[in-house]
Amino acid sequence: MQMISNCTDVELKKAAKALKDGHLVVFPTETVYGLGADATNKKVVDRIYSVKGRPTDHPLIVHVSGIKKIQQWAIEIPDFAIELGRKFWPGPLTLILKRSKVAENYITGNQDYVALRVPGHPVALELIRNYENIGGLGVVAPSANRFGAVSPTSAGDATEELGTFLSGEDFIIDGGNCELGIESTIIDCTGLTPIIIRPGCITGQQIENSTGWKISAISKKNEIKTSGQLVSHYSPRAEIIKSSKVFEGEGFIAMDVFSTPLGAIRLASPKTIEEYAKILYKAFRAADHQGIAKVKIIPPSGIGLAASIVDRINKASAKSLKGKD
Ligand code: TXA
Ligand code: MG
Repeated sequence: MQMISNCTDVELKKAAKALKDGHLVVFPTETVYGLGADATNKKVVDRIYSVKGRPTDHPLIVHVSGIKKIQQWAIEIPDFAIELGRKFWPGPLTLILKRSKVAENYITGNQDYVALRVPGHPVALELIRNYENIGGLGVVAPSANRFGAVSPTSAGDATEELGTFLSGEDFIIDGGNCELGIESTIIDCTGLTPIIIRPGCITGQQIENSTGWKISAISKKNEIKTSGQLVSHYSPRAEIIKSSKVFEGEGFIAMDVFSTPLGAIRLASPKTIEEYAKILYKAFRAADHQGIAKVKIIPPSGIGLAASIVDRINKASAKSLKGKD
């Protein structure tokens, strides 16, 4: 695997060519790092599943450089989806739409729907633009971690997750720490109204404020498969427990207003909700690096982004899929 640390035009063109030639390219986005591949090349998409250890019926998000490009991938796009794209792209938003013929079963997990996102990170956008300029249609990119594990928010974390599974012609692009730190908000746009099926940095409240619509959150009956919907996900090896009762030698994550209990190992003290999102996965990773067995966490309170963070904490603390990664 080759590392690009200096994101010059020449280097990003090299990585774009690698994508087009059927290699894997790990790249930064504003949410988490993605494991990128040409969405029209089955062979390399198969490698995504094996590198991640992810079941093949879990679909992938196609990343494009702008809203105009979604027409290649989706049909019967409702007006509300266009409006969402116009308002929030480039940014941490993924829309589920009815697929076109270009979106094959091997990226949609055999469903008739395709997930699309225009990422906001300048390196991601430049990489995708360069790849499109040489004929690429879209870059599938799941988070660059092993299945069920914690999403990486830096190139170092992505290397730790996947470095040994990549081959000589694959790339990892180092674009620094991700600004937001949790995955994009996913909105199902296949019905009459938009439904949030994975909460994220763009909140229902923001959408309501900017569009005037009331937006609903996932209903349990929703049949679209989203791996982020598994009860357990985003888990470190350490056991994550929501509690303020902390014993000696245990890890502790809470807003900075909570003081560190005696003998606890403080892993993060975010001052704001935004900072909480940004450092949550780093703190989980730090627990594993330090060999900490149990982490006690006081989740943030409130709606919006705080609720999205709580969603990730709940998934990290659920035990049913432990050992999956
Ligand atoms: O922020 C993000 O969304 C990051 C960055 C790299 O863009 N990507 C990401 O991808 O989180 P991934 O694969 O780790 O999570 C995407 C989720 C999965 O749970 C997947 O099942 C769901 O999106 N998804 C993808 N395509 C879908 C589809 N057609 N229908 C329903 N869910 C879909
Ligand atoms: Mg993921």
